[in-house]
Amino acid sequence: MFFLYYHTIIFKVMSIYKANHKNILLAADEIKRGGLVGFPTETVYGLGADGMNSTAVAKIFETKNRPTFNPLILHINSVEQLDNIAQINSPKTNVLINNFWPGPLTLVLKKKECVPDIVTAGNDTVAVRMPANNTALELIYRAGTPIAAPSANVFGKLSPTTAFHVEEQLGNKIDVILDGGKCKVGVESTILKISENEVILLRPGGLSIEKIETALNEKVIRENISEEIISPGLLKSHYAPEIPIRFIDDINLDDYTNQNVGALLFDRNSYNFDFKEIKYLSKNGQLREAAANLFVYLHEFENANLDLIVCEKINPEGLGNAIMDRLKKAVNKYS
Ligand code: TXA
Ligand code: MG
Repeated sequence: MFFLYYHTIIFKVMSIYKANHKNILLAADEIKRGGLVGFPTETVYGLGADGMNSTAVAKIFETKNRPTFNPLILHINSVEQLDNIAQINSPKTNVLINNFWPGPLTLVLKKKECVPDIVTAGNDTVAVRMPANNTALELIYRAGTPIAAPSANVFGKLSPTTAFHVEEQLGNKIDVILDGGKCKVGVESTILKISENEVILLRPGGLSIEKIETALNEKVIRENISEEIISPGLLKSHYAPEIPIRFIDDINLDDYTNQNVGALLFDRNSYNFDFKEIKYLSKNGQLREAAANLFVYLHEFENANLDLIVCEKINPEGLGNAIMDRLKKAVNKYS
């Protein structure tokens, strides 16, 4: 009994690694393998995965137990890396980068093709930042990829500012947490959306608006929005396909026999209907794979010349919850 208890403590303590060169390499390998790493930034600790690997990113949502897909911030270590993932659409972007990166400022920019849909929750914009923390920067450099990371808390709990907080919330779910001490800033980054004509504050955070306005020599538009509201599940950046989408269970398929119907099914087709096209979220019935495919398939259906998309309800457990949330929102748009 004592041994078991003792063993558990040792086991738990083991996921925290001091953020030295050797352990950063170990963490970078974990990222390259498609795993998750808790790591320090100057704002709060992040729960990171390879931002170019959809299935690895799906693990983030699974691990955080988020009931919805929120778009994630891609963390980069150089401006060259930015060029691969986003378009710099305004000279203001350069002014902000020159003044405040690395630092607690996230920029929402037009995304490039290579950014997976699950990172942006289907949006055509991507949030990017370069953290002012040497451990984070070296980790990204060694992993050789932008790291997608939300704050490393379980859904509904406070954002962690020490490795111990991460261990408490996620220690039994992730293998590597890099301990880089207490976060210097302690609150999340400020998020700005930069479009051609205006700069909009999406989330107040670690960098003050006054500093931003001084650098830009213009007023930032402060929409009175909370984090809840900008999370695209609810408003602004919510993505739903342009073609009507309904749950198969809620309609009578026979009413659509003469129409071009695309079916988004989970793992098999048990319907007696002549679908124009069928996509399987995961033929092996794996929720992670299903999550990674969800937005990709919705986008593909948009270009498939369909009258209607029908989809199956997914058992709302684990990642199934987030998948169902997204499907319900898309369906609600048309019912
Ligand atoms: O300081 C931070 O920003 C921390 C550290 C780890 O970098 N990260 C963080 O991530 O706070 P997260 O996922 O907890 O919050 C990111 C916010 C979400 O509210 C999300 O909706 C918003 O950024 N966001 C991400 N991509 C977006 C996009 N394309 N458009 C609008 N909002 C976006
Ligand atoms: Mg958060």
